[in-house]
Amino acid sequence: MNHVRPARQPSHLRDALREQIMGFRTTQMIHVAAKLGLADRLAAGPRPVEDLAATVGAEPQALHRLLRALASLGIFAQDEAGDFALTPQAELLRSDVQGSLRDVALMYGEDWLWQAYGNMTHSVRTGAPAFTKTHGQPFYGYLHAHPRAAARFNAAMNGFSSHETAAILEAYDFSDARSVVDIGGGHGGLLAALLRAHPQLTGTVFDLTSVVAGAAAVLSELGERVRTVAGDFFDEAPAGADLYVMKSVLHNWDDADAQRILTTCRAAMAPGSRLLVIERVVPDGNAPAEAKLFDINMLVVAGGRERSELEYRRLLEAAGLSVVRVAATRSPMSVMVATKR
Ligand SMILES: C[S@@+](CC[C@H](N)C(=O)[O-])C[C@H]1O[C@@H](n2cnc3c(N)ncnc32)[C@H](O)[C@@H]1O
Repeated sequence: MNHVRPARQPSHLRDALREQIMGFRTTQMIHVAAKLGLADRLAAGPRPVEDLAATVGAEPQALHRLLRALASLGIFAQDEAGDFALTPQAELLRSDVQGSLRDVALMYGEDWLWQAYGNMTHSVRTGAPAFTKTHGQPFYGYLHAHPRAAARFNAAMNGFSSHETAAILEAYDFSDARSVVDIGGGHGGLLAALLRAHPQLTGTVFDLTSVVAGAAAVLSELGERVRTVAGDFFDEAPAGADLYVMKSVLHNWDDADAQRILTTCRAAMAPGSRLLVIERVVPDGNAPAEAKLFDINMLVVAGGRERSELEYRRLLEAAGLSVVRVAATRSPMSVMVATKR
């Protein structure tokens, strides 16, 4: 018979680990709530679950169980009459609120992402993205071939950006720039916010052809102050702007590819241009940091990595750029300001 050693850890640690082991449930519960649009349906006030179920096309008892479980986590709440209502966290699952995380919740429960995460062992054993093994092609190639997945991804990126943008605007003074290019700017959420806040700025979103097509809707209100340019940042970038922004781009790539992107960008920069590399910087030590968990997304999905400040400095140096300042923001993002050497 196997000898079982008595547990020595306090029970709260055991409980915490149990909860972490079953974290997958929470992700999917929030995903389903987002998919059914529950928060939007409760925006006008509490509703009985039967009424809500009929509206969203759910089985009433099952929906009750979902909402009860979510309410136990602080997302939705049941009132004394038995109706379900929004809580401050559930508010963030509405689609029409500032800083909405609905699109983020929609993407993180998608089957194409879950299947890749189911193969995480492959990434840890080989260092290669499980996504590529799972789907037979790299992440961005997959998005190109699957427009619905791409739409989910781009919306989720904007969902992240909306929270991060205000913090970036506070941390860096954009008032002395006239023109800005957002390299890998996605659907243009960050650029739109920059131009709204700084009327002297004109801007360009540079991204893949299939992506910039979707930026038009976000940018239309800015008229002639913005344009979109389609291209591949391994080959080219629009030349001569005062400011280049690269947010959440380098973390998608290994060092060799990240350096190629930086080299292309450097070639497009005028002598006085600045480049803002905006990323989650990995801190030393064991302290909790979003960057350390995002790094797992990079390992499993894109094949990139989150980096420390020193690693970013070295990467930029190797591409002929110098980091002249690093500004922390009140979001997980830092702004690294670089110039040509
Ligand atoms: C993680 S997303 C970040 C988007 C945006 N900067 C943000 O922070 O929300 C990376 C972006 O790089 C773009 N991208 C990937 N490969 C590219 C390439 N070869 N050339 C240009 N853009 C590319 C993607 O389409 C995507 O919009």
